[in-house]
Amino acid sequence: MFMLFSAACFRSSGVRLLRAYGNAMTSDISDKPALHEAVGKISWLLGKWKGEGCGVYPTISPFMYGEEIVFNHVGQPMLSYNSRTWHAENGKPMHHETGWLRIKPGTSTLAFIIAQNTGVTEIEEGEVEGHKIRLLSHTVGRMSFGAEPKVLKIERIYTLKDANTLELECFMETTNTEHQKHLHITYEKVSE
Ligand code: HEM
Repeated sequence: MFMLFSAACFRSSGVRLLRAYGNAMTSDISDKPALHEAVGKISWLLGKWKGEGCGVYPTISPFMYGEEIVFNHVGQPMLSYNSRTWHAENGKPMHHETGWLRIKPGTSTLAFIIAQNTGVTEIEEGEVEGHKIRLLSHTVGRMSFGAEPKVLKIERIYTLKDANTLELECFMETTNTEHQKHLHITYEKVSE
């Protein structure tokens, strides 16, 4: 009896909750949530971007790679972020990362929270100024069986060159090497 009652109760309150959520977010429950006003300053990142970039570092041979990134909005003061890269010649999957680019409402202050498939996690913070974003890590985590060298610092600079062209420069410091460039890529917008 109790189980029947609780199942019915769960079903009806679940439906009520879903309706309340749908009404609060949009007029139609299947719609995407409305853009949160705080993300206006970084809304130029929204969409799917694709590009070909190059990687360098004093300890490795220079390489070319392809990458697709997606910045999406979720109705909160943040954008979701996904990136996958592949070998420029054989198409094999390489670096992947995913996370959230948060903005402190009412300011230009950003926090980029990222998990990498290499076992590195990071929190970068910085500012958006017009169509440029500069971020520097203050926290870099690492799994216990991660490869050497350890990453100590990561810096990313995004620049919107025009409405459909985005550039990323990425610098890093490791236990072996001073802070310097690792990646440079230009993306073209694929879809909104
Ligand atoms: C912020 C993101 C990234 C971090 C923190 C990172 C970190 C590193 C580190 C620590 C190394 C080893 C350097 C050394 O041995 O001195 C490395 C090498 C390398 N990275 Fe990245 N990386 C990042 C993004 C990428 C991306 C997007 C690609 C694109 C495919 C990439 C491709 C490579 C390659 C091909 C190597 C050389 C590997 C080898 O020769 O064994 N990395 N990276």
